[in-house]
Amino acid sequence: MTPPRNVQQRTRLDAATADAVRRLARSAEDHDGVAALSEQTLLNLATTLDEVTHLVVPAEDGAVAAYAQVIDGEAASAELVVHPMTRRQGIATALTHAIEGDWPTTRIWAHGDLPAAQATAAAAGMAAVRALHLMTLDLRTAALPPVAFPAGLGGMTVRAFRPGTDDRAWLETNAAAFADHPEQGRLGQRDLDARFAQDWFDPADFLLVVSATEPDAVAAYHWTKVTPAAGGDPAGVNGEVYVVGVHPRWQGRGLAVPVTLAGLHHLRERGVATAHLYVDDDNTRAVATYRRLGFAVEVTDRQYAWV
Ligand SMILES: CC(C)(COP(=O)(O)OP(=O)(O)OC[C@H]1O[C@@H](n2cnc3c(N)ncnc32)[C@H](O)[C@@H]1OP(=O)(O)O)[C@@H](O)C(=O)NCCC(=O)NCCS
Repeated sequence: MTPPRNVQQRTRLDAATADAVRRLARSAEDHDGVAALSEQTLLNLATTLDEVTHLVVPAEDGAVAAYAQVIDGEAASAELVVHPMTRRQGIATALTHAIEGDWPTTRIWAHGDLPAAQATAAAAGMAAVRALHLMTLDLRTAALPPVAFPAGLGGMTVRAFRPGTDDRAWLETNAAAFADHPEQGRLGQRDLDARFAQDWFDPADFLLVVSATEPDAVAAYHWTKVTPAAGGDPAGVNGEVYVVGVHPRWQGRGLAVPVTLAGLHHLRERGVATAHLYVDDDNTRAVATYRRLGFAVEVTDRQYAWV
């Protein structure tokens, strides 16, 4: 059989093709034990966005043999998946060539960083440029110490975020804490408003640490995200350490552990069984803090690029 290498570039997918891509993603996940396409990429199958291009390798009977999605922009990224039945036929090679031709600065995600992805990236002349850990902690069994702030900081308290009142102070602390981070450090009021509009947003899950002397400034924060668990368990909830930050003026004074603990206790009270978070592997201070609290790396995703 001649391998299907016909790479079709599309700006939108019809409903049948989008379904075929979802089936392809499920087959690959069953086979690999890790999802190749992220939640955002799957959502993009059903929408038309200027920055999104779909690369489809059709198979017989309306099925899809392989699929890639490129999200263009300043930090262009892509995900790519080949059906388990059509692997080792050069299809990923054809897709990476197509991506390199039109989007040479794109980074390609390899969720789980499986050996096949490493080999494919190496064969395409790409190098690993970023690694993201998924870390988890079982809150049912974790021995979480109580929240205690270091003596000498003059009275720190934890309180919920007040939408509309704390926005500016939080944006300032977030931008300063994540000045070197490609995505998080650039969040502005519009991004904050978009999150406030999400079903999952609840200001009670968004904790601020403030000092007695400057109660309107944000010394540190722990934004947790609680969502219904997938898989139909109505009582189940997923809990994520969505983002934790300490203002540089307050860094190095022992706030990281108590601010993280405040959110973990909160997630436990919300009924979350396993807390999870994503962290860049080169953020050694954050990874060390999470490890100290009992988190372990569950899976590591890697981004590859032509460098
Ligand atoms: C990674 C993946 C896309 C490879 O698809 P594929 O169509 O089988 O890859 P190709 O046939 O084009 O092979 C590309 C290169 O990787 C090598 N390769 C692919 N799978 C391999 C494996 N399991 N073990 C060793 N080498 C492998 C091939 O030999 C080839 O190298 P060569 O050109 O030097 O011979 C596929 O396994 C997949 O969909 N995985 C899950 C999603 C994923 O990890 N995506 C990220 C890709 S960076």
